[in-house]
Amino acid sequence: MVRRMDFAPLRAAAQAAVPPDAWAFFQGTADGRADSERDARAWDQWDLVPRILTGLTTIDTSVELGGARFASPVTIAATAGHGACHDEGECLTIAAAANAGMLMTYSHNASIAVERFAASATSPWWAQIYVQRDRAVTADYLARCADAGAAAFVLTLDVPGTLADASFRRAPLVGPVAVRGNVGPTGGGAGAAVESCFTPDDVAAIVESSGLPVWAKGVMTPEDAIRALDAGAAGVVVSNHGRRQLSGVAPVADVLGGIADAVAGRAPVLVDGGIRSGADVVRALALGAAAVGIGRPVLWALAAGGQAQLEAVLQALNEEVAAAMAGLGAGRVADVMPGMVRRAGV
Ligand SMILES: Cc1cc2nc3c(=O)[nH]c(=O)nc-3n(C[C@H](O)[C@H](O)[C@H](O)COP(=O)(O)O)c2cc1C
Repeated sequence: MVRRMDFAPLRAAAQAAVPPDAWAFFQGTADGRADSERDARAWDQWDLVPRILTGLTTIDTSVELGGARFASPVTIAATAGHGACHDEGECLTIAAAANAGMLMTYSHNASIAVERFAASATSPWWAQIYVQRDRAVTADYLARCADAGAAAFVLTLDVPGTLADASFRRAPLVGPVAVRGNVGPTGGGAGAAVESCFTPDDVAAIVESSGLPVWAKGVMTPEDAIRALDAGAAGVVVSNHGRRQLSGVAPVADVLGGIADAVAGRAPVLVDGGIRSGADVVRALALGAAAVGIGRPVLWALAAGGQAQLEAVLQALNEEVAAAMAGLGAGRVADVMPGMVRRAGV
């Protein structure tokens, strides 16, 4: 029997392995308290409702995303600074992702420059963008990512930036976590350089100039999903940025269903935030997601035990997904239906 992973020992090992400022950065939320797991608890509010008499003999967890096939509906969400976990940073993450058959989104604020990262990649990857106030810098980053082989862009739009930076971001970062591989004369960066004011026209401009599919990340309402798609986005990522941007923000588990209903199959919907088990993954699929992203667990695993530990976590999570699908009576990801989830107590 596949049991739900207990992340507590991994978290403790990760905390012991990285400098305190890196740990504060990983766990930080806009709430200013260590409740990065509120979204994880929200998934538990959705009960699974299985089908029987399905005659299932095999389980296929694979999904197609952006034209490529992946073994798992779990993807690696963009997170900054994998170099704080290991010198080889994002190069180890993409190696583990490739071996687990998962898509990785490379963060603009990665520790390893995109060219070096791409040279080590053996499976498809997407590149996340923080638009810079200096649009020439953004154009340069887009071109570098496209030249390096990114298959798509993830445009992060939930950026209060200097208007309302959370306290864990205002603290000066020191040591490895401060190193950003794309910062520099042409790389762009963080803080005041990052654009925080967006309209649909900005989405349309990035779509037009990038030459690749652009996914809009940070969507929390049906209206914004439609506006992003109308502006040309290839899909949306429902996300509250790991609770890092807005204190008191709604958990993604509570808004996903409404957004997927509004999008109504027009484009794929991804979701990230608090996904910690195979049950959470199938809850998200049943609520309308095409795939899910995980953020902090990747950092914990990489910090605690490098590529081998990360691979073990990714494999275990996908085994949980397969077990949850088997229990639900869904042989393929597309067979996970809305009726297979219901709000607890309703
Ligand atoms: C340490 C850390 C760094 C992050 N860096 C980025 C980033 O560079 N770009 C981005 O779009 N989102 C970033 N995020 C947000 C993640 O993409 C994702 O939305 C979030 O981590 C998902 O929640 P989870 O950590 O509960 O799985 C970051 C999150 C964390 C925890």
